[in-house]
Amino acid sequence: MSQQRALIIGASKGIGMAVVEQLLHSGWDVTATYRSTSISLQHPALRWLALDITDAQQRTQFVQALSGEKFDYVLVNAGILGPQHSLSEVDDAQLSELFFTNAVAPVRMSENLVPLLRDRDSVLGITTSQLASLTENPDATLPLYSASKAALNMLSRALAKQIEPQGMTLLSLHPGW
Ligand SMILES: NC(=O)c1ccc[n+]([C@@H]2O[C@H](COP(=O)([O-])OP(=O)(O)OC[C@H]3O[C@@H](n4cnc5c(N)ncnc54)[C@H](OP(=O)(O)O)[C@@H]3O)[C@@H](O)[C@H]2O)c1
Repeated sequence: MSQQRALIIGASKGIGMAVVEQLLHSGWDVTATYRSTSISLQHPALRWLALDITDAQQRTQFVQALSGEKFDYVLVNAGILGPQHSLSEVDDAQLSELFFTNAVAPVRMSENLVPLLRDRDSVLGITTSQLASLTENPDATLPLYSASKAALNMLSRALAKQIEPQGMTLLSLHPGW
């Protein structure tokens, strides 16, 4: 069996970096992205590319740079915590950045990446949060962040309907704390 290939979007630290480390440990070939954080992890089977998923031009150039390549697993993990206040305490620009980064850009990026999935066994993952759930987060902890992930969930559900006919799997992933 040929070496399996993964693409991890938002991997310069945290959960994304940990996923990259685990995949390398399991023998995968990994392409990973960073935006602003300098990279400490290097490995012969690891390639780093720069990407800001909120920049439409960067998304287009990124997909063009990978044209002809195929991946078994793609994870769109990039996200921000954003302001931890209530709605009345933040301005519209902060809200726009939060919702665009966490809800809109990951799904736009995912749509761009579907053609890079290898075949029907391939998986496209998007990192969400349990906090997005009305039943799992009854106290509305981190309301703005949680609302942005709730929006991501519904846009992901719509994306799943688009890719289902091609047989691939969309994984909406709560990674745990
Ligand atoms: N930590 C948790 O307990 C938890 C729980 C549930 C869900 N999540 C979700 O899991 C994901 C990772 O969380 P984390 O805690 O590992 O966060 P983190 O340590 O802050 O890492 C976030 C990653 O996303 C990248 N990123 C942020 N905005 C980006 C953008 N506009 N374009 C491209 N990359 C961008 C960052 O890149 P740079 O650093 O290079 O800018 C970084 O690599 C997020 O989607 C988060 O909402 C986390």
